[in-house]
Amino acid sequence: MPLYKQIGTPHLHFKEVDSTNAVARRQIDQHSAPEGMLITADIQTHGRGQYGRTWISAERQNILMSVILKPTFLSISSQFDLNIAVSLAVADIISQFCPDTRIKWPNDIYVGDNKIAGILIQNFIQGQQIAHAIIGIGINVSQKEWPPEILNVTSLVREGLKEIKSDELIQILCDELEKRYNGLEENKDDFRKEYTNQLYRLHQTTSFFLNEQEQIGKILGVDEIGRLIIEQNNGIKAFNHGEIKLII
Ligand code: BTN
Repeated sequence: MPLYKQIGTPHLHFKEVDSTNAVARRQIDQHSAPEGMLITADIQTHGRGQYGRTWISAERQNILMSVILKPTFLSISSQFDLNIAVSLAVADIISQFCPDTRIKWPNDIYVGDNKIAGILIQNFIQGQQIAHAIIGIGINVSQKEWPPEILNVTSLVREGLKEIKSDELIQILCDELEKRYNGLEENKDDFRKEYTNQLYRLHQTTSFFLNEQEQIGKILGVDEIGRLIIEQNNGIKAFNHGEIKLII
C-alpha cells in the first residue's frame, strides 16, 4: 500500500550538512526513518548529483531536500515509475511559475534550455522489494551566479520571479509529491503519458552522444523500464540512463 502519512513529517532541518541524501541514508541505517520524513539544509558541503557528480548550491538560496519513502508496493522492475511521479511533482510546481518547464530525461527539470532542478533517487532493495527510496531534490530558487564551468543553469529568480518563500515552496512540493506518490499505483499509465508529454525535445530531432560519438535522432518517449526511445535513420532504439547524453 502506498503512503498514508504526510510527506514532510517529521522534518529535520540543518544549517549545514554533508548531503541531505546522506543524512537520509544514516536515518535509514539507524532505523529512525519514518516514511515521509523530510530533511532540508541551508547548505551542503558534499551535495551529490547524478553519476557521482557534485551538486553546487549557494547557502540559503536554493531548496535542498530529501524525502524518505518506503515504496514496497512497487516491484523492482517498476523503479522508473517512482522517477516519473517525482519528476512530475517537481515539474508541476516549477511550471506554475515558468510556463516553458520540461522534464529532460530521465529527471532533470528544465526551463527553456536551462536546468532549474535536479533529482537524485536512491533505491534500497531488499529481496524483491524497494524497502527504502531516498528522493533528493535540489531546486534553484534565488541563486543568480554559478561557477563558470556550470552551464545551462537557471533559477526561479533568474526566470523573473520575486519574493519566493522557500519554506512555502517546500510545503507545496511535499503535498504534490504525496499526491503523485499516493496516485502512482492506480495511475501509472496516465503518469507515464503525462511524463512523456512533458519531455524536453519530445518529437524533435536532437543531437546526443553515444559512446562519445555525436548522433542525431528524434525523441519518441520512454518505454516501461524508463529507457529513452529515439528514432534514427537505421530504426528505433531504446537507450538506458547513462548510455547517451543529450547535447543542449
Ligand atoms: C542531479 O541533477 O544531478 C541531481 C541533483 C540532486 C541534488 C539534490 S540537493 C538535495 C539532495 N542532496 C544531495 O546531496 N543531492 C540532492
